[in-house]
Amino acid sequence: MQTQNTFCVLFSCTLIFPYLIRGGKPTLLYSWAMAFVFCTYNGYLQSRYLSQYAVYADDWVTQPRFLTGFALWLLGMLINIHSDHILRNLRKPGEIGYRIPRGGLFEYVSGANYFGETVEWCGFALASWSLQGGAFALFTFCILLARANNHHQWYLEKFEDYPKFRKIIIPFLL
Ligand SMILES: NC(=O)c1ccc[n+]([C@@H]2O[C@H](COP(=O)([O-])OP(=O)(O)OC[C@H]3O[C@@H](n4cnc5c(N)ncnc54)[C@H](OP(=O)(O)O)[C@@H]3O)[C@@H](O)[C@H]2O)c1
Repeated sequence: MQTQNTFCVLFSCTLIFPYLIRGGKPTLLYSWAMAFVFCTYNGYLQSRYLSQYAVYADDWVTQPRFLTGFALWLLGMLINIHSDHILRNLRKPGEIGYRIPRGGLFEYVSGANYFGETVEWCGFALASWSLQGGAFALFTFCILLARANNHHQWYLEKFEDYPKFRKIIIPFLL
């Protein structure tokens, strides 16, 4: 599952997502290089652990821990895809400005796409029940929390009518 998962993440991040965005900023070489190193190293870490070292009971995929983790992973992925779809469609073709995102989980948090991504990898950590999966989820959350917080503060400064009820990344909490 993880090898396919890693492939899907790399495929969607590097080949699909860049061609769908409208009027996005160019990516810094430094950011690109850091993302490349992170994805390569993390993909290797997860795949190597699962293919070489992990030991699971024969009925692992029918146990509640795996099924709950899988459901969370799927839910997170759907939230992430839906939220990215909302962001991409805020601009009309040719526009480069910013608008207040509305709809979906953006009604509750500024970083709805990042919330989906975090839920996704928490689900994976639960389904794989591994330190490696847990580390991936934790570091993803830390990186995306900082990013979501920057966006949140920027929205509050830029838009006077920005909904005050919205949290940064976790609905009702943070
Ligand atoms: N696993 C990880 O560690 C990790 C790390 C980073 C990202 N990701 C994932 O990669 C995907 C993209 O992340 P990202 O950080 O690039 O997302 P983002 O900053 O929210 O931007 C996504 C796209 O939407 C546009 N956009 C964002 N807010 C907008 C607004 N208010 N008005 C108009 N357009 C807006 C951006 O344009 P501009 O480029 O002009 O801002 C960009 O083209 C997400 O699914 C995220 O979860 C994962």
